[in-house]
Amino acid sequence: MSKSASADLTRRLLMMSGPVGVGALSLGLAAWRGRDEEPDTTFLDVQTESPPEMSEIIGFGIRKEAHSLNADSDDVRMYREAVAWMKKRSEQNPLDPMGWAQHWAHHSLFCATRTFGYQVHYGWFFLPWHRAYLVNLEQKIRRVLKEPAFALPYWDWTRNARVPDWYWGDGNALYNTTRLQERSDTLPADFLELGPALRATKFAHFGGRRRTLGEVQVEGTLEQGAHNNVHNWTGGEMASFDGAGNDPMFQSHHGNIDRVWEIWLAQGDGRANPTDADWLDHVFWFYGPSGNRETVRVRDVLETEKLGYRFDSLDWRPTLSVETMPAFPGGGETYATLDLSDAQLAQINVIARGEGPGRVALNYERLSLPLQPFQHRLFFVDDATSQATYVGTFTILPIPDLRSGLERTVTSQVEVPPTALNALLESGRVSVVGVGVPLKGREIPTEPIPFKGVSLSIDV
Ligand code: C2O
Repeated sequence: MSKSASADLTRRLLMMSGPVGVGALSLGLAAWRGRDEEPDTTFLDVQTESPPEMSEIIGFGIRKEAHSLNADSDDVRMYREAVAWMKKRSEQNPLDPMGWAQHWAHHSLFCATRTFGYQVHYGWFFLPWHRAYLVNLEQKIRRVLKEPAFALPYWDWTRNARVPDWYWGDGNALYNTTRLQERSDTLPADFLELGPALRATKFAHFGGRRRTLGEVQVEGTLEQGAHNNVHNWTGGEMASFDGAGNDPMFQSHHGNIDRVWEIWLAQGDGRANPTDADWLDHVFWFYGPSGNRETVRVRDVLETEKLGYRFDSLDWRPTLSVETMPAFPGGGETYATLDLSDAQLAQINVIARGEGPGRVALNYERLSLPLQPFQHRLFFVDDATSQATYVGTFTILPIPDLRSGLERTVTSQVEVPPTALNALLESGRVSVVGVGVPLKGREIPTEPIPFKGVSLSIDV
């Protein structure tokens, strides 16, 4: 199916989703009366209907690591057969809720939208929504194939940075011809580093901040880091929110993202999911296995066992080391100069030595989302000595509609890792330099993306 056909589906889905929440809208406006600023109604929840709750979870399966399987393994064979079957359904009728095109369109509807009431990226709904999306597909496949133990394989890119073999090959329903990488290509180590996400002790830093009218949303480190990087590196449909749902490897990538949520919680030390009612009671809807719309609340997706699956392992591997640390190639764009006060340096010192909790981050404030994927490696450069220190990656994926809405409000965050904190402590004054990353089949965007500024935040 072509890009425009997908956009068309998204539109039709939107139309089918019925009237927006008029009640909620006027309430929001009343709260804003008397203020000078235009209310940003894109924050309001447009979901007011209550279709029936999620169908009963059937079966139970162990989600296995994709590289431990081959094309003939049960879960791979079943996944391939089910996707082929779903693609056929869509050929007969693109709106068939059991078809692949609708599964794809459902992701586009919630991920390629500029309406914050629908958008599930750039904030704290990212993890629960994508978990529910995978469960929805896994449940459909169990029913269609009558295989209650089927489980979607996940791809642990920290342990094997190559797209699993069985996702390739002409005629394979799990292959997507738009990928710009080849079977033998491996992801750069720094794209996959989970350190910043797993070091976070607050959910807001790990999984994203709340999204409420009047508050600045910020995506979590997991979303901004490895998640965006794998999408963007793969290229083709995976590198856009509109297309991503059509590449079957999406499910294994997100399988691992979902697993990292479990890994994060298992680390303990105060790590916990939000307890706010506006997170827990937030409602998503999907087409259930019967083809009808169903709802699921965030609070219902917090335990994988209740959703009929578990991971075979919570192992992972740090990918960034002295050997794999990217060197500063020179050039790049200077985004800010950080001139730190003694008080700030003292706070950073405590955090860098691990003597107290806290997190230092770079904030990209109020970004305009690009039309093409955008990726930078960030470095701190000491202007006096020209010493450069790697900070991390900054990657954003495009959404197709830029006329209004999200682009006024998106703020992104990159954690400053301990090595870069030390560099900051040594010089006290550094430039933040972003360098475009060359990727297969793509030009490095030369235009900097517009944003209000890059600032440093110290959260203790
Ligand atoms: Cu909604 Cu990884 O995308």
